[in-house]
Amino acid sequence: MRILSGIQPTDSIHIGGYLGAIKQWVELQSKGECIFFIADLHALTVPQDPKTFSQKTLETAVELLSSGLDPEKCVIFAQSQVKEHAELTWILNTITPIGELERMIQYKEKSKQFKDSVNVGLLDYPVLQAADILLYQIDSVPVGKDQAQHLELTKTIAEKFNQKYGKTLKVPEALVLGIGGKIMALNDPLKKMSKSSPETCLFLFDEPEIIKKKIMTAVTDTGKTIKYDLVKKPGISNLLTIYSLFSGEPIKELEKKFAAKGYADFKKHLAAMLIEKLEPFRRKKKELMQREVYIKEILERGRKRAEIIAQATMLEVRQKVGLLV
Ligand code: TYM
Repeated sequence: MRILSGIQPTDSIHIGGYLGAIKQWVELQSKGECIFFIADLHALTVPQDPKTFSQKTLETAVELLSSGLDPEKCVIFAQSQVKEHAELTWILNTITPIGELERMIQYKEKSKQFKDSVNVGLLDYPVLQAADILLYQIDSVPVGKDQAQHLELTKTIAEKFNQKYGKTLKVPEALVLGIGGKIMALNDPLKKMSKSSPETCLFLFDEPEIIKKKIMTAVTDTGKTIKYDLVKKPGISNLLTIYSLFSGEPIKELEKKFAAKGYADFKKHLAAMLIEKLEPFRRKKKELMQREVYIKEILERGRKRAEIIAQATMLEVRQKVGLLV
């Protein structure tokens, strides 16, 4: 079983990305052949500062390692270091209808948010994502719910390529969690927690006093009871989900535990639990931020291993398409 997923180096990792994706990656490391990468080419589709961008990529590598990825158990690399991602994207572009890309939810949202800088890359983003996956002949892609549409398109593109040129690319399956697949914003439980709006996020490496402040001011619902009800109580339901996934206690148990308590008491317990659970993450990040050479070595080792698989697929793709090899 070969597993792959990626994350953009646009801001620090938040608890949505962790609970929806990275926590699964950590668990899957011992179950299959895992490939994880930092999607720096994707991040370029919105404005980045060239002076700090490569540092952000390294910091994301540090954060992934601090969240539990083990370079002895999985491959970790930066997308732009393996040139085949861009090469396969171009070939897949030639079989992808523009209409399919224009109806992608993320494209519609981001082209509104960055309306002064809507570039071809923003539209082409899902084709690069398809190339990321199809290069490695992947079985399973663990992602949050927001990536499900991109994964569907990846399957469509793979099938189209195979139909046109003969069976070459493996058609992957998305692995999306039922609970945790979409963690909502603390200040607006009807919106997804998202790096493109940092004010909605609780970051994995936030300091204790920040965690406390963000949880205590999280938007809750009318009423008093601590009960999971996505329609009537989206705020409390989101906090219960976060509590349950970090503590390992089922939501039903938490409802019982806090049956006689009010929202403020529940939030105090949640903040204290998060501060404790995230302490090792913060400690590891501080330590690894001092070890740039080691981090670069890990990424270089990852690049070499990824490149071998990517080059084999590209050779076959070139032959099938009829390019000179
Ligand atoms: P990115 O960097 O936005 O997010 C990384 C992972 O975190 C998940 N996620 C969430 N899950 C639950 N609740 C949330 N609020 C939440 N916010 C983020 C995302 O679904 C994702 O799994 N396009 C991708 C990166 C990418 C990729 C790929 C992923 C590039 N190529 C190939 C898989 C396969 C992205 O922007 O993720």
